[in-house]
Amino acid sequence: MDRTALVTGASSGIGLATAAALAARGFRVFGTSRDPERLKPEQRADGVDYLPLDLGDDASIDSLAETLAGVDVLVNNAGESQSGPIEELPGEALRRIFQVNVFGPVRLAQLVLPGMRARGYGRVVMVGSMLASFPLAYRSSYVASKAAIKGFSNGARQELTPFGVWLTTVEPGSIATGISERRTKYISDDSPYREDFARMLAALDRNERAGITAERVAQTIVTAIAADRPKARYAVGSNAPAVFALKRLLPGGIVEKIVHRRHDLNR
Ligand SMILES: NC(=O)c1ccc[n+]([C@@H]2O[C@H](COP(=O)([O-])OP(=O)(O)OC[C@H]3O[C@@H](n4cnc5c(N)ncnc54)[C@H](OP(=O)(O)O)[C@@H]3O)[C@@H](O)[C@H]2O)c1
Repeated sequence: MDRTALVTGASSGIGLATAAALAARGFRVFGTSRDPERLKPEQRADGVDYLPLDLGDDASIDSLAETLAGVDVLVNNAGESQSGPIEELPGEALRRIFQVNVFGPVRLAQLVLPGMRARGYGRVVMVGSMLASFPLAYRSSYVASKAAIKGFSNGARQELTPFGVWLTTVEPGSIATGISERRTKYISDDSPYREDFARMLAALDRNERAGITAERVAQTIVTAIAADRPKARYAVGSNAPAVFALKRLLPGGIVEKIVHRRHDLNR
């Protein structure tokens, strides 16, 4: 195996597990963190070289250009989990989540694709979310950012396949990574949505704690990378196969109700 991979957000959860899985399979792996210097040993995967990357900062993204020119597999995993009623999401928070979850990952893809195309091989995995397929109240900015990154992946896919380069989206369901503790939340003290919002968040955190492991998602990401012709979308966790089958069978309104009931919102 003579391939090089770069995994963003490799200091925690899905990114850490994916970096470890790729290194164990013989890839040369670069992992990123906003501050690699401060990472504890358990936040570093064995055999992975850590580089600084802040997706909120274009200069930080561009500083990886030289490394990216030689990368065969890009896993765009790092992301912000944001929540709040649409009325109360500050413009600055909306711009940040789109920078971190969409514009930053797209810029990384733009930097990595020319080299992949020239060498006739490449894999770009966008780590989306099942919420992009099953939208949820009080998560609109997050849902929209994950739908947008999936849109870039799906839209650009056929531009690259003639060159042996495949874009794919992996949509995790509820995964026990502790992401709940790092979620950004926007709600005012006198918000009319406070009670509903708190109920939804408690259910979301409960579902995440009961979710599958990051290692299981990493396996799916590795499967997508190893495929000769990766599918446009892989979904894993939250009973994905059954849930997507139901979505094909049931009317949209019923599916929306089921998703909200799972998060203790009786609609
Ligand atoms: N956990 C779930 O239930 C779940 C479900 C669906 C989708 N996802 C998606 O899966 C991906 C990974 O989630 P996770 O649960 O593994 O999250 P996590 O444990 O919170 O890890 C997030 C990673 O992203 C990095 N990061 C955060 N903000 C960043 C920024 N502005 N610039 C660069 N790196 C940044 C963090 O590294 P540093 O702090 O070291 O910089 C960390 O390594 C995310 O895109 C998330 O939206 C997760």
